[in-house]
Amino acid sequence: MSAKSNQDAVRASHDFLRRRGEFPAMKRTVNGHPLAYLDGPGGTQVPQSVIDAVAAYYQSGTANAHGEFVTSRDTDRIVQGARNAMAALLNAESGNNIAFGANMTSLNFSLGKAIGRYLQPGDEILITQLDHEANRGPWLNLRGNNIRIREITLKPDGRLDYEDMERKINEKTRLLAIGWASNALGTVNDIRMARALTHRVGAWLLVDAVHYVPHFSVDVQSHDVDFLLCSTYKFYGPHVGLLYARTGILDQLPTDRLRTQDQRAPYCIETGTLNFAALAGVQAAVEYIASHGIGEGLRNRVVEGMQRIRDHEHRLAERLWLGLEKIPGLKFYGPPMQDSLRTPTLSFTLEGMTPSEVCSRLGHKGFCLWGGHFYAVRPIEVLGLSHRGGLVRVGVSLYNTEEEIERLAAELRGLVAGASR
Ligand SMILES: Cc1ncc(COP(=O)(O)O)c(C=O)c1O
Repeated sequence: MSAKSNQDAVRASHDFLRRRGEFPAMKRTVNGHPLAYLDGPGGTQVPQSVIDAVAAYYQSGTANAHGEFVTSRDTDRIVQGARNAMAALLNAESGNNIAFGANMTSLNFSLGKAIGRYLQPGDEILITQLDHEANRGPWLNLRGNNIRIREITLKPDGRLDYEDMERKINEKTRLLAIGWASNALGTVNDIRMARALTHRVGAWLLVDAVHYVPHFSVDVQSHDVDFLLCSTYKFYGPHVGLLYARTGILDQLPTDRLRTQDQRAPYCIETGTLNFAALAGVQAAVEYIASHGIGEGLRNRVVEGMQRIRDHEHRLAERLWLGLEKIPGLKFYGPPMQDSLRTPTLSFTLEGMTPSEVCSRLGHKGFCLWGGHFYAVRPIEVLGLSHRGGLVRVGVSLYNTEEEIERLAAELRGLVAGASR
């Protein structure tokens, strides 16, 4: 990090520390230890403003959408507000490019079914060995329809093999389904390259951005993606999934839908009633991110807020890497921390202990950490880690502090020292 960006990161860290009390869950303790939430990749904590927005929806009277009375109009306004806020977060063409659902996995399955009906026998879909199962299962399901699914190889360093991507993409490829960032290793994939290759053969590009959106600002138009999915519970919001689809594309697809529902995008993939209270929280989550930036308009504040979040998280993750790298028997997986194009999610194994043992021992000391495969079961298999119980994963979020990072490093050193005695 340059001296200037380090200064910016330190300044950002002070602000995040000052505002940490906005997250009520930070007050919780276990066995007398304050909880250190280091499982952001599994789901982040929620600020009071998001909790208030969800509660306010119920307090002021709930109703279904598209009615002629006041509470129903409130519901319509909340749903459109959430679409518009997400459009600002992703720089989508408009709020109507955003569809909501229960979670990313369900939306991707719905989209997968619709795309499956659209494809012809012999068509190919390209997936990767690095992806979460939520961006593999919906595509692997299409194999029975005479659709060939090919897989881009993961290299031992935790990065995708781009030569393999180039080799496997061809004129039969209809879709490349790729994660933007790995929730298991923190690797950030080259979406511009993926776009260039898919353009060359006229294939669609679908990006699973669940682990990317919490850490970087996103511009779907500049990256020119066809589909992008993410989940707001990974960035300070409620449990809601969403799908961005480029203008005009979702309307062409035979999604599962009732004849009673609006047949146009984004409604044509939203089956049944949405979780309106949670959608009130989605808008509040985007506004919370924007509250860390300054400037004119929601989009500008989101972009600046995300930059400050990135600076702070990256600085803490660098510190964590330095604190852990000298621990005997600890082995990191995924790209090194010096690689600024990675998320602040560090994963490792510790000799002589399974990841679940490490997480359980640290759990008693107040650390919320995950061990295992995190549903990114394919990279864990490819890296030969399945029989060892996967990885320990530490995910840094905006509310984490230097003190938590130092405390974690000290506890891990203590664990190793205790085990070797
Ligand atoms: C990278 C990635 N993709 C997809 C998912 C699935 O998201 P959801 O829980 O919204 O279905 C996750 C969840 O952890 C994830 O980390």
